[in-house]
Amino acid sequence: MKKIVILISGRGSNMQALLEAKLPCHIAAVISNRADAKGLETAQQHGIPTEVVAHAQHPNRESFDTALAQLIDTYQPDFVILAGFMRILTPAFVAHYQGRLINIHPSLLPSYGGLHTHARALQDGVKVHGCTVHFVTPDLDHGPIIVQAVVPVLQDDTEQSLSKRVLREEHRVFPQVVRWLCQDQVELTSEGHVRLRRRKQSGFALISPGLE
Ligand code: GAR
Repeated sequence: MKKIVILISGRGSNMQALLEAKLPCHIAAVISNRADAKGLETAQQHGIPTEVVAHAQHPNRESFDTALAQLIDTYQPDFVILAGFMRILTPAFVAHYQGRLINIHPSLLPSYGGLHTHARALQDGVKVHGCTVHFVTPDLDHGPIIVQAVVPVLQDDTEQSLSKRVLREEHRVFPQVVRWLCQDQVELTSEGHVRLRRRKQSGFALISPGLE
């Protein structure tokens, strides 16, 4: 059975979705860069070992990432899952976990990398928005895309209502991706694209606002 380690920084609702999804893998540990991350309690309630590597106690990114990787490697995970882990990782860290480091981001990448994705989408007046699960590469919020969920942006949306709609989809697609990974269904092509083995595809369109 494959082994995963989950990294969080805060609330941990995506982590919780993973813990509750009965995934075909062993969740070896949840690690946070903040001791006050609420998700740590949730993980403990699920009987998952938790650890903290406090970024504030390290003089620079290299030192923090080295300590983090040392701790992660004691668990020998097949995949390292970034579930709301809000730190920029060094190229050395990313290279160490190449092909094994997965992130969820609350936008349809490559649009809206970085922070405040929902507010920026509203500001631009886009009619669809969503989330992306992808392999991590040294470029922030880039990397081969595994899955995207698209939601409509509604006329009266606020940042809060839009983020809620996107988060609901995050909680659906993230466990699915980890399941695919643990079942060896995700293939990375030489062009750096993701192909899923044994998957039927559907080709319907989301039109927002809908047609009459
Ligand atoms: C999620 O929306 C996740 O996509 C986002 O942080 C939130 C964490 O919520 N991640 C990023 O912005 C990474 N660039 P959670 O702690 O409740 O899962």
